[in-house]
Amino acid sequence: MPTFEEKLSDYKHQIVEHIGKAIGKETPVSLYEPIKYTMQGGGKRLRPVLLLLAVEALNGDVQAAMPAAVAVELLHNFTLVHDDIMDNDATRRGRATVHEKWDTSVALLAGDGLVALAYQNLLNTRSPHTLRISKLFTSALIDLCEGQALDREFETRSDVSMDEYLDMIRKKTARLLSLCAQMGAILADGTEDQIQALKVYGESLGMAFQIQDDLLDITADPKKLGKDFGSDIRQKKKTFLLVHALHHANARQKQQLLNYLNHEPVQDAEVLHIRDLFNEIGTLQEAVSAVKQYLTLAEDSLNPIEKVHAKTDCLKDLLQLVQGRQA
Ligand code: IPE
Ligand code: IPE
Ligand code: MG
Ligand code: MG
Ligand code: MG
Repeated sequence: MPTFEEKLSDYKHQIVEHIGKAIGKETPVSLYEPIKYTMQGGGKRLRPVLLLLAVEALNGDVQAAMPAAVAVELLHNFTLVHDDIMDNDATRRGRATVHEKWDTSVALLAGDGLVALAYQNLLNTRSPHTLRISKLFTSALIDLCEGQALDREFETRSDVSMDEYLDMIRKKTARLLSLCAQMGAILADGTEDQIQALKVYGESLGMAFQIQDDLLDITADPKKLGKDFGSDIRQKKKTFLLVHALHHANARQKQQLLNYLNHEPVQDAEVLHIRDLFNEIGTLQEAVSAVKQYLTLAEDSLNPIEKVHAKTDCLKDLLQLVQGRQA
């Protein structure tokens, strides 16, 4: 029996190999070079791995699900290329972002190309359920766009509630992860109860993942993060941290937070000052505990399917991986 780490590494290798085959063309260079640069730039491959683990948990055919796994990774990478334009970020996965290395037009078109390639692979999935998963894929993409729109709209607001924040991250991040788990369950011919359980698992995992991402923005080792450190603070993103802090600050702390929100640009020292404020207010601890709560929800959602002999050990190991991630 391979360990979880061995299985993960094996799946990642297979995914990377299939991604290589999915992007066979070389020209026009200004389209395929940035696409290859993005897809070969590493990344955790969490979404396709999750899809394959969901297939495996329900004893489905992992190889038959590979085009769908490639499709979710292509779609995810599209969102990153466009997200980096929207968030004004210069680095990702320890390298220049596409719009920084080339320009914004190149990055927009590379993103468009990635969506098209994602659909091409998705529709090549040989399964009686291809139409069903394609409809879900499309509705998840619409939700993701809505989430990204809300994320941008919130930049210029200081009164975002925790419920609004949670709704926004459910759409921009959790929806894609729930889609992966759901698609895996459908492709494995799971029952409707199993599909629903895995959908909830993916969504809870996704909520934890984004709150952890918000935390890493200012708590990670910048060398390990591979992305612009403090980017959310500079962009005035309404992250879990800022929303929580604005609601729990005393009068003096609140004034400092509002001062920061009301001027441009944000200096490096100010990023660290805001982090100290978050710490003082108890926000960092609160975020850590919110991550744990969502991971517990994810774990609990597996209970009903365990009773019918689904193999959920790897899905549980995946939760540990997300909790411990540094980048
Ligand atoms: C980054 O996703 C975007 C978020 C939803 C926070 P990942 O952290 O999974 O990115 P890669 O693919 O591993 O680089
Ligand atoms: C990720 O949000 C959401 C999507 C890419 C859809 P972030 O903007 O926080 O992701 P990173 O931190 O840039 O990876
Ligand atoms: Mg971003
Ligand atoms: Mg963003
Ligand atoms: Mg982020």
